[in-house]
Parts: sequence; structure tokens; C-alpha cells
Amino acid sequence: MTESNARVVSGIQPTGDLHLGNLLGAILRWVRMQDEAQCLFFLADLHALTVDIDPAELRANVREMAAALIASGIDPAKSILFRQSAIPAHSELCWILNGTARMGWLNRMTQWKDKAGKNREGASVALFDYPVLQAADILLYQATHVPVGEDQKQHVELTRDIALKFNNDFDVELFVVPEPFIGGGTTARIMSLRDGKVKMSKSDPSDMSRVQLTDSDDEIAQKIRKAKTDPEPLPDNADALEARPEAKNLVGIYAAVTGESIDEVLSRFAGQGFGAFKPALAEVVVNLIAPIRQRLGELRREPDELDRILAHGAARASEIGAPVLARARAAVGLD
Ligand code: TRP
Repeated sequence: MTESNARVVSGIQPTGDLHLGNLLGAILRWVRMQDEAQCLFFLADLHALTVDIDPAELRANVREMAAALIASGIDPAKSILFRQSAIPAHSELCWILNGTARMGWLNRMTQWKDKAGKNREGASVALFDYPVLQAADILLYQATHVPVGEDQKQHVELTRDIALKFNNDFDVELFVVPEPFIGGGTTARIMSLRDGKVKMSKSDPSDMSRVQLTDSDDEIAQKIRKAKTDPEPLPDNADALEARPEAKNLVGIYAAVTGESIDEVLSRFAGQGFGAFKPALAEVVVNLIAPIRQRLGELRREPDELDRILAHGAARASEIGAPVLARARAAVGLD
């Protein structure tokens, strides 16, 4: 992604407590992109409505997530940071694109299948329509690149299909067909510290499964010390980690934090046991989290400043999106 006219758009659901998985998997990749492209990052609070929510919690989570993003290095002077619901054009474009998206396309979305499970009849219509809102988020700003995790790639591909069909059906050259952007530094999936086969997640009942941005240095060190491992020393090549999910995860975390490759990390630690590796890992994780935690603490005490930043971001995003929405309305005859 080196084109100077690249435009990056990405969103994150405001879930409250951020953990190391969010930080390494999404946010630090965003931080690095800020210098390469015009970036729009938003808190996907409309997407939060696809499942049962508590309004007070949602309200609080939006600010908390904004604070966490800024504390982690999203710079409101470089990037456009806003909350999705501040811009009605997302919802309006979603509705227009609902006329283009096909039931069959949405039915194939694995996230829909996973989240609805056996209870499709009881799932919200919004959960089914979730990917079309995501398409609207992306197409509204003519994004060229959409940094997402592996699990969201299918939604970006759907966005491409919607853009192409809309342009074709209405004989316009309106929507830019975006690329998913999976790479950009670490691609490691950050897994639970208790089970290397499941993702690190806020919904895991065990607090020991994840490092939170709010954890103290001691808590971080303790969680890493108690992380599940196997008795073997570290191998000298990445392939040998494949059958060892917990070892693979810890080495992956180390590499993601320091920006090294797995092989670089292994070349230093090969032959050593976890008794030596874990303290080294704890040290780099503490060095990453401690300043973020500190800044997050400060920002939490400045809700007005956060609101001001989000309002400013919304005004800038709105300016970019307005002409695109106007053209989409015109294309379908709503002018
Ligand atoms: N669905 C994304 C996720 O859960 C969040 C999201 C919403 C998003 N809208 C987007 C990501 C637009 C990229 C672009 O991670």
C-alpha cells in the first residue's frame, strides 16, 4: 500500500475493555498506516446494535474505545477518528445498498452463520444486514484499502461485489472497489493465554486468558508467567511450532510486539525453555502496555476533550462522504 492516493477506512466495535489481541491484531496496524495514507477510523456503534445492548454501556464504551485508540497512538491530527452513528450517511447508504445486495450473498457470510447459530429465526434483522452496513462504511468514503483481520475478509469481498453490481446496474462509475488489507506488520492471530486454539477474547470467562490495556505491570507479568505452555524448549524454526499452539502463540506475541519475524525471535531463543522466554516476553509486553495504560488513564479524565475530537472527526468524515451519498442517491433516482 504505497500509492499516495490510498485511502484507508476501518472500524472497530466499541466493546469496552481492550486487550492485547485488539491492540496487536488491529489497532497498532492502524497506527502504522497513518503515515502512509489518508485514514478514517471509526467506532462502529451502529454495528453494536446487531446484538442485545445496554444503552448506558454502549454510550460509555464509545468514549472508552476512543480513549483507548488515541492512547494507543491513533493521532486525531493525522487520522479522521469518529463515531459511525454521528454520520447518518452510513445508515442511508446502507439502505440504498440493501437494494443491491442479494439475500443469497448474505446467507453465505460465515460470521452470520456463526453468530446466528441455530437460532436464525431469533436473530435480529440487523445481524443479517451487518455486512451491508459495513459495505456502506467502506464505499461512502471511496476506500482503496480496508485493514481487517482474516475473519472480516469475506465482508470486504462482499463489499466489492456490491460496489461492482451497483456501478453496473446503474451504469455509473461511482464506487471504488476496495482491497482487503490483511498484512501490514503482524498477521499473527493472538490467542488466549489459557488455550492456544481459541482467540484472545473479551468474552472469555477467565481473566487470565488475556492481557488488558488496564493491567498493571505486575498483572501482565503474572498472566504471562501463568500462561499455558508445553515442557519442550523453543525450536529453531517456525514450522516446528505448528503442532504447539501455546508456544506458537507466545512466540507470535513476542514477534508482534517487537516487530520481528518469528524466525528472528526463534534464532535468539531456540533451545531455551519457557522459564527464560516468559520473563523476556513479559518485559516487552509491559514496555508496550505501560505508556498506553498511563495515557488511557489521563484521557479517561477528559471526556469533553474526547467528545470534541470525535465531533471534529465526524465533521471531516461527513465532508468526504456527502458527495458520494449524493451521487448514490442520484444514481438510483432519489434526486
Ligand atoms: N466488522 C468489523 C469487525 O468486527 C468492524 C467494522 C465495521 C469494519 N465497519 C467496518 C471494519 C468497515 C472495516 C471497515 O471487526
